[in-house]
Amino acid sequence: MYILGIETTCDESGIALIEAKDNKIKIINNELALQYSVHQKYGGVVPILAAREHHKNLPLLLKNIEKKFDLKKIDYLAFSAGPGLLPALVSGKEFVIGLAKKLNKKIIKVNHLEAHTYACLINNKIGVWQEIKTVVFPAIVLVVSGGHTNLYLFKSWAEKRLLGATVDDAAGEIIDKCARALGLGYPGGPIIEKKARQAKNFFALPKPMIQKSYTFSFSGLKTAFIDLVADIKKLKKLDEQTICDLSASLQKTVSEILIFKIKKAAETYNCKSILIGGGVSANGNLRKQVKKFFKQYKILFPPKELSTDNGLNIAIAGYLTLLNNSHPSLVDWNNLEVFSRENIYDKH
Ligand code: KG4
Ligand code: ZN
Repeated sequence: MYILGIETTCDESGIALIEAKDNKIKIINNELALQYSVHQKYGGVVPILAAREHHKNLPLLLKNIEKKFDLKKIDYLAFSAGPGLLPALVSGKEFVIGLAKKLNKKIIKVNHLEAHTYACLINNKIGVWQEIKTVVFPAIVLVVSGGHTNLYLFKSWAEKRLLGATVDDAAGEIIDKCARALGLGYPGGPIIEKKARQAKNFFALPKPMIQKSYTFSFSGLKTAFIDLVADIKKLKKLDEQTICDLSASLQKTVSEILIFKIKKAAETYNCKSILIGGGVSANGNLRKQVKKFFKQYKILFPPKELSTDNGLNIAIAGYLTLLNNSHPSLVDWNNLEVFSRENIYDKH
């Protein structure tokens, strides 16, 4: 079957096409339009501008696919219905409903967080059939992004439980804010990672709520970091080397917090596998530390380019939603609800 995936939860407009059968997929096309230059001057995503950009980008992305592929052959439209920014989701929803009507197809309602998880199961190779990777359960799943830091226990694809989440900011969100305090661009994660490679010294930073089971809190770390940067600025000592040292210290502290909680969960629930998805999972330091720390587990990360938001993850999740869910959310044209906060994934 052919599945078109559409992503508009935040500031990436994505459309991708896959062919899928017998637990195998072939990536046909993965079209992505980034909006970073639009949001950069605000230091974060402006929802209404994100919506406007999706409105402009989606028809252009679809045209690129249409050049090589007859859209009538598509079987399902997979749409990332949330959690995300409401204006951005609504512009995607209008687009997918319009397309569903035109092509006379059903929509598979995909949860954005599930899509980040399922991205761990594929390679990013275009045009070749690939087997979807298997997971040995029980597994610990961490979705760590600009909007979420959620830790789950999966006993199977159908049996999952949210163990804990952040009580304030998400890990990616504070990385972006701290990068802004350093005068670096948006999104902060990749720039912080690059600067951290040149570090020579580390600053001690707090790890709020580290002992508190599976609950995360990052806002105290953000405040401590921003205060530290302000103090260093007052002393006129915020030179390039100090920016690199601060970047590495932040990256290291975030990795340590995430690893601490994963370790506790993996041991408590006697897990076999660890899956880490979402934008922050692109971080090379986090990947290295996790591999070093959890040698006895099967570790699955998405391909780096698929850690952040894209339409391909949604298409894959569309297929796996059909396979793994006895009641997949197949939606009629005028019946598609979007949601800003999790109200599906976290029932437990
Ligand atoms: O998953 P994503 O694209 O969007 C949400 O669903 O939120 O994640 C975006 C987040 C941003 O905060 C960005 O700074 C962070 O992922 N990120 C990174 C890296 N690449 C993206 N954080 C750390 N290291 C990276 N290499
Ligand atoms: Zn995301």
